[in-house]
Amino acid sequence: MINFLSTRSGFLRPLISKYSTKAINPSKRQYPSKDSSNEVLRRLNYLDNYERAFQFFDNLVKQNRVTVASLLTILETCTRSGQIQRGRQVEQMVNQSSQWKYHVRVQTALINMFMKFHMIDQAEQIFERIRQLPSCDTIVYNSMLVGYLRNQHVEKCFACVEKMRSRVRPDNVTYTLLLNGKFVQLLSEIRTTEFLACTFLRDKQRGKAIHQELSSNLDSQHVHLQNALIDFYGKINEITVAENIFHEMTLRETSTYNSLMKAYLINRMAVKVLELFEQMKEDNLDTVGPIGFRPDLITFMAVCDACEQLGLLNSPDKTQQLVLTLYFVFQIDTYQYSMGEIERPRLFYDPNSLSSFNRFRIVHTHFDLTVNFDSHVLDGFVQLDIQPLDNQSCDRSSSITTENHEIPNNHGNILVLDSRHLDIKQVMLKSDSTEKVLPFQIDIERESLVIELNDLQLDSNFSIKIAYATSSTKCTALQWLTKEQTADKQYPYMFSQCQAIHARSLYPCQDTPGVKSTYSAKITCPKPLTVLMSGLQSKHDEATNTFYFEQKQPIASYLIAIAVGNLVSHDLSSRIRVWTEPSMIKQCQYEFEESERFLTAAEELLGKYQWQRYDFLVLPPSFPYGGMENPCMNFLTPTLLAGDRSLISTIVHEMTHSWTGNLVTNENWEHFWLNEGFTSFIEAKILGNLSKSNGKETRRFHAAQQWQELKSAVTTWGDEHPYTCLVYRLHNVDPDDAYSSVQYYKGAALLWHLEQNIVSSESKFDEFLRSYIIKFGGKILNTDDFIAYFQSYFPQAPPVDWQSWLYTPGMPPVTHDFSTQLEEQCRRLAAQQTSITKDQLDALNAKQVAYLLNLLLNKQSAITYDYVKQMDVDCDMSKYSNCEIRFRWYQLCIRVKYEKPLDDIFKFLEIIGRMKFVKPLYSEFKVSWTEMIPRVRIFFDEHKQFMNPITAKQIEARLNANN
Ligand code: BES
Ligand code: ZN
Repeated sequence: MINFLSTRSGFLRPLISKYSTKAINPSKRQYPSKDSSNEVLRRLNYLDNYERAFQFFDNLVKQNRVTVASLLTILETCTRSGQIQRGRQVEQMVNQSSQWKYHVRVQTALINMFMKFHMIDQAEQIFERIRQLPSCDTIVYNSMLVGYLRNQHVEKCFACVEKMRSRVRPDNVTYTLLLNGKFVQLLSEIRTTEFLACTFLRDKQRGKAIHQELSSNLDSQHVHLQNALIDFYGKINEITVAENIFHEMTLRETSTYNSLMKAYLINRMAVKVLELFEQMKEDNLDTVGPIGFRPDLITFMAVCDACEQLGLLNSPDKTQQLVLTLYFVFQIDTYQYSMGEIERPRLFYDPNSLSSFNRFRIVHTHFDLTVNFDSHVLDGFVQLDIQPLDNQSCDRSSSITTENHEIPNNHGNILVLDSRHLDIKQVMLKSDSTEKVLPFQIDIERESLVIELNDLQLDSNFSIKIAYATSSTKCTALQWLTKEQTADKQYPYMFSQCQAIHARSLYPCQDTPGVKSTYSAKITCPKPLTVLMSGLQSKHDEATNTFYFEQKQPIASYLIAIAVGNLVSHDLSSRIRVWTEPSMIKQCQYEFEESERFLTAAEELLGKYQWQRYDFLVLPPSFPYGGMENPCMNFLTPTLLAGDRSLISTIVHEMTHSWTGNLVTNENWEHFWLNEGFTSFIEAKILGNLSKSNGKETRRFHAAQQWQELKSAVTTWGDEHPYTCLVYRLHNVDPDDAYSSVQYYKGAALLWHLEQNIVSSESKFDEFLRSYIIKFGGKILNTDDFIAYFQSYFPQAPPVDWQSWLYTPGMPPVTHDFSTQLEEQCRRLAAQQTSITKDQLDALNAKQVAYLLNLLLNKQSAITYDYVKQMDVDCDMSKYSNCEIRFRWYQLCIRVKYEKPLDDIFKFLEIIGRMKFVKPLYSEFKVSWTEMIPRVRIFFDEHKQFMNPITAKQIEARLNANN
């Protein structure tokens, strides 16, 4: 195997010489021939000597010696140097010449240039002009495809293939591109295109259609094409098909072996990788010629990964020695990064976590816990698989300021975890066979667990196993319900809510949205209860009532979720199942029957759903939120069960988080709007797309409702309050205390502004959203990253007043007009002097009634007691069971001290814990009906022990506040 060493250094040589800087001096060559002048230009281009290249080209123009070759080169120079102005000058020159205006190769070079500058319109214009020419060949189409892929416009790419079919035949390059985007061979370019092809998108249907087409169509032995197919089938977990393709190939290359190895790795078949590696060595003996299939860096990388999957890298084994030597000799990890194969870890800032996430990263979490309903405790252990970070090979978020060179949340070899009132029993360092007990300290005040790893060798991954129990009284993530508190009153119930920073009371962790980990779990609970978690259930051991779960996509700690209760389920589609208590299942079945239609609509807008199953649990009414986007298992409040499907927007919202939030995630809670603003904006868009009659109007009306919510929230905080900024500071602030609708709907309003006023095209903005999800999917980002990406995607967009939108409190700098018929109808009613009559109210749908109440609550001239009473006498407001209507009506009643519904209001506050409803009611008492406060206090003190800990804390703070 040592021979590979010499082979590989040979492999690097051409790369090195290509980028070496040999001095050349073009001016010495006085009269170069046409071809040699292009050679000079090419060299200048490659040496990044752009100014000289432009001078040289200008001279060629003056001397009238421009050739096609020199045009192609100078256009590349324009791209490489980022000088689009120059490019446009060349374009002008070209199009003034009848010889070049219809020269397909020259025009294709212009297409390539515009595509690289994301100027898709320009590229398309050229394309439309030359498409009709007889000389327009496959290469032109392929260039368009590369361009679309580069700009992440996957649908346009496939549409272009259809256009292509009517004129020319797709070739191997076309198919390879569509399958895995790897046609563009330049190292730096692989990544962008790869991300859109069928393989990355796991687009089974299209990928298989291409395969089908190939088998009847073309030279099927084209190696890259076959490799692409192997990549594809590996990615979609059809490994046997991948193997068959491999075995039937008569001509293989190293890359073919690599493709199959990768496919094995994805499918966690590490042993197969090693077998294939052995086979490769044997096959190699029979090969002659320059290509062969000697292992290369990618092969070794795959072998290393396989060894790691098998746990071999921890044992002092011969193979390991060898692999590690190769690892260091080739610096494979550096190479990997430059290939864009794996992301460099990103150092970031999070004021709400003390954990040392900039020194160590949890990459996998395993829970082994027992649920104890008598003591209200989860007890067992958690194992954290940890990767140490070398800060030098990490990227840095803009939130780590350059003046401050010190990297936060890095305490060298001290491992700090977030931990709130956990009973930590033991901490162990775990290797294959041994477990070593480690010393630790608990800092209750600062809510952290400090583990000393001082004398340990910390350059590779290691595991920490922590035996612990949750606190029976101070765990903020869990609510334990007695059987009387459940709908069926038969069995106790328990559920979690980790967002924003409660995961730390459930297990010791890096409790920041900036760290994503896969997880697995083994949970035992009393029979006949069922455990649900935010992953896929992999097994159920009936004898012990132990449930096993896996979450194979890395997720942030706030998305860990668990619920235990007497639960039943109903399948709404092949991938959607609703869970709830037995007495509620029928209602749920009806209310959410259309869920598959929603998920399909979301996929149409955002790309394939990446979490395999979309199940959800409808919880008891004390659940503090409308919904929580726990992956694979969303949690929903039962207050959505209106009986008329009028409150489905919340499930659409939570579904949408499967892309914005769960794939693309804010790096800390200061950028919360990236999760919620995007989700709220898209939620309205999807509701529009779902509407059978008038999508535009539906979307606008929903956005109008959101705008009114924003107004209420800004009024509640006061319009100079820092928490009414889109991006706020959370240093020493619990995110729950800064939580409100502002980041949701100011965020949505910003995106509306960008779509309608800046980009001015919904379809272009939709394409942008898709590309944003591809670009940041699986990653974290902050507001700067978003702006930079927006600007690079729309370089010619008019300027945006980011400062006001992001960092100025109060209502947004731009007021949108969301008027529609539905909206105006409500507005007229809200404006009338006399109170609303029965006929008027009955003419409105449920969403309109809620909207009308919002308008009344937000009205400048205050509503009077008489108005409210008259409205109640006329309309009998107690007939409404829809909670969105009830809580607004109750708020209005409290505001004018209308006493009739008081008992209903206290009943409502007793049963319902959804903070969106109960916070405003308590606040309204505080602000408008102070005489009631003693009664409210007594009521609260009586009930708080049964409330959700998150809600209880928020209400307590409200009642204790000075205003
Ligand atoms: N992720 C949020 C809930 C959340 C946010 C919990 C912050 C804890 C901290 C969820 O997606 C959400 O936004 N719920 C809304 C739904 C509504 C906007 C449709 C709610 O609870 O009202
Ligand atoms: Zn949300």
